[in-house]
Amino acid sequence: MPDRDDAVALLEQWVTNEGLRTHMYAVEAAVRYYAELRGGDPDLWGLAGLLHDLDWEKHPDEHPLEAVAHLRDLGYPEEVLQAILAHRSDFTGVEPESELDKVLVACDELSGLVYAACLVRPNGIDDLKPKSVTKKLKDKTFAAGVSREEVQRGIELIGLERSEHIQNVIAGLRRVASDLGIGAKD
Ligand SMILES: [Fe+2]
Ligand SMILES: [Fe+2]
Repeated sequence: MPDRDDAVALLEQWVTNEGLRTHMYAVEAAVRYYAELRGGDPDLWGLAGLLHDLDWEKHPDEHPLEAVAHLRDLGYPEEVLQAILAHRSDFTGVEPESELDKVLVACDELSGLVYAACLVRPNGIDDLKPKSVTKKLKDKTFAAGVSREEVQRGIELIGLERSEHIQNVIAGLRRVASDLGIGAKD
């Protein structure tokens, strides 16, 4: 099975947009955190988070089918491919079924919102509380590209209280805060 270094090399080859790269690393961190909470394999789950938008920049009209075809050729595990397909079930028709599938949907858009919330705070993610994220969630003009419907769908899929889910995503992203540039500013 390809490892994280292989996946990072692939990501850097396919994705040039810094914002999209950061998004993929953020989702990876959140999904890995959930693997620990839900008895998943963090390395395996992490690959799905890291690569879920691999073809978004190169093949937006085929996203994520191109990526999945390529990853299949490279020998990525079926669970990873399934989760990547299911994060866009509206397009692929593949519904989220496994824990990993559901967690990926639940972390995708919400990671973007948490990330954006960190950028407008002096202490970034350091003292970020679910309550502030919820406020941003309700303010539709903030990070308007983040689909509120998808966030809600994710919360329903994983079956947690909204604040608990937000807290988990914050905890996951906190671990990679300096890589993502969302720690306290000097
Ligand atoms: Fe996507
Ligand atoms: Fe995404």
